[in-house]
Amino acid sequence: MLAIIGGSGLTTLSNLDVSHREVVRTPYGEASGALVFGQICGQPAVFLPRHGYGHTIPPHKVNYRANLWALHHHKVTGVISVASVGGIRGDLQPGDIVLPHQILDYTWGRNSTFFDGNGTPVHHVDFTEPYDAELRRRILEAGQQLSVDIKVDAVYAATQGPRLETAAEVNRLERDGADVVGMTGMPEAVLARELGLPYAAINVVANHAAGRGDSVNGIHFESLEHVLHEAMGRVRTIIERLVGY
Ligand code: HPA
Repeated sequence: MLAIIGGSGLTTLSNLDVSHREVVRTPYGEASGALVFGQICGQPAVFLPRHGYGHTIPPHKVNYRANLWALHHHKVTGVISVASVGGIRGDLQPGDIVLPHQILDYTWGRNSTFFDGNGTPVHHVDFTEPYDAELRRRILEAGQQLSVDIKVDAVYAATQGPRLETAAEVNRLERDGADVVGMTGMPEAVLARELGLPYAAINVVANHAAGRGDSVNGIHFESLEHVLHEAMGRVRTIIERLVGY
């Protein structure tokens, strides 16, 4: 059973034929919401909205540990994380779907490990390749079968938020090698790794990052909402193909 964690623009999975919902108690507190179990084209799947059902939990307050623990508790076989991002690399346009392959982490103050000195022997997980190769392959294959364009390989920079970046910060991210920027990719990815859960991300470019393209005079999400909405529709078809076949 695959899990889908949805972010901004994907707060429900309309193609999920819901069977039941479950609030999971975890040693780390409450997950962002009830897990929604169901089937996509006859195959089991579970959905969790990262920011809660009313989209009220900001990126730095998401209980990433509870979310991943709850999914692991329900024996999911992998996690697909959907998140919107700002595009830094010149060829990326709002509405593009990106499959990141690497991460730069600029977040701070988040509970970012299960090995937190609570009596469990510390384990330094290997994180050389932060995303699962097989899940990435399946996402790409689904995109190819549907003729949905997916930009392969991008370095994802995770910033603290909830504010957007300054233009100078985006310049620094680019110098560091980042192609896209978002606020939720970490510690989600590493917590999945600590639990041994295959994890991959699908990013949707919602806007040009600060100071780039048409964001040179500021970022105005309202005018881009329809682009994000349309792109999330394509992401849904990718997920449907991936889970259901
Ligand atoms: N920066 C950080 N996170 C984001 C952005 C951005 O420009 N767009 C969507 N999520």
